Amino acid sequence: MTTISPEPIPVAGPSISRREIELVAEAAEKAWYGNHYAYNARFEHMFADYIGVTHAVSLPHCTAAIHLSLAALGIGPGDEVVVPDVTWIASVAPVDYVGATPVFVDIRPDTWCLEPRAVAAAIGPRTRAIIGVDLYGSLCEWDELAAIAERHGLALIEDSAEALGSVYRGRRAGANGLTGVFSFHGSKTVATGEGGMLVTNDDAIHLRVQTLRDHGRPPGDRFFLNEEIGFKYKMNAVTAALGIGQMERIEELIARKRAIYGWYAERLASLQGVALNAEPPGTQNSFWMVTAVPDAEYGLDKFELMARFKERNIDTRPFFSPLSSLNAFAGRPESRRFVDPCDVGQRIAKTGINLPSGYNMDEAKVDLVCRAFREILAN
Ligand SMILES: Cc1ncc(COP(=O)(O)O)c(C=O)c1O
Repeated sequence: MTTISPEPIPVAGPSISRREIELVAEAAEKAWYGNHYAYNARFEHMFADYIGVTHAVSLPHCTAAIHLSLAALGIGPGDEVVVPDVTWIASVAPVDYVGATPVFVDIRPDTWCLEPRAVAAAIGPRTRAIIGVDLYGSLCEWDELAAIAERHGLALIEDSAEALGSVYRGRRAGANGLTGVFSFHGSKTVATGEGGMLVTNDDAIHLRVQTLRDHGRPPGDRFFLNEEIGFKYKMNAVTAALGIGQMERIEELIARKRAIYGWYAERLASLQGVALNAEPPGTQNSFWMVTAVPDAEYGLDKFELMARFKERNIDTRPFFSPLSSLNAFAGRPESRRFVDPCDVGQRIAKTGINLPSGYNMDEAKVDLVCRAFREILAN
């Protein structure tokens, strides 16, 4: 018998309580005149406190946070930035926005994050920065990356869009680089529909980001005397109010993500040759998306797997495809010069999928998805 879900099971989705709805209504009424930035300021303070950093800047999305990180560092044409070959394109597109060259390197087989040895091998005279991505809630080897960055005088940017609430050796995701960046897209751990945050402990970077994100106006400018041409990257107050409500519930949200992962891990533990998200000693994973990577011996690639789940009314997502394999980077041999077909990332990205991980998942739904998964792999 084939397991079919009686209702569609979406792959991701938020948890929105009465509190968020009240805050949004309140902001729509009150966040005007002298109060126009009050909700943003409150969201930023809460967020910086939670991450354990001095500054947080609320933005329209995480892509803007990465763009501003690079722009604030003055990275531009002629510069190179080392990035993982396997990540969402938003981690890397901003390197192109500033006219620099992304250089793709391999990821680790356990955490699916940057392989420090591959990073070290890709550093050359033009390298200016490393963008490490905490993929699906996992964490990069931040101490090793920091040592490499320091040795070569490079900036370290932590793309923690998918890892809010994860902890690396006592430091929260986002607090491991010169800047840390987050996404509040509707699928994320904390969701505001669209939204982003840049965090940093560096006063000069903070000032630079505030200026660049407001058309080159230093904070406090009331005379519209722009110092330079910048960008317009601001989060609106209603979105910030939603973020406040979500951050008030952050411990509950992370606990739920960890519970969902726990239900899957329990049921899939006996499945041979299927790797799930890692949680190495010294780290805590907030498991944004439960991710399964079946061995190639099963003979199913990720798109076939997705189709089999879809037949059962279950939505999944493919593991991100290597950037080096995308048409988007077809004309960029300089970005692909350290990528090899035998790379770990190339193998993992062939078969990996994200399983339904939205806040609407309960134990019964996880049970059904796991039964379906076993059937698919058995056939
Ligand atoms: C790893 C990673 N980086 C960056 C982003 C960009 O986030 P946003 O969509 O908020 O710009 C995302 C979100 O999709 C992401 O998953």
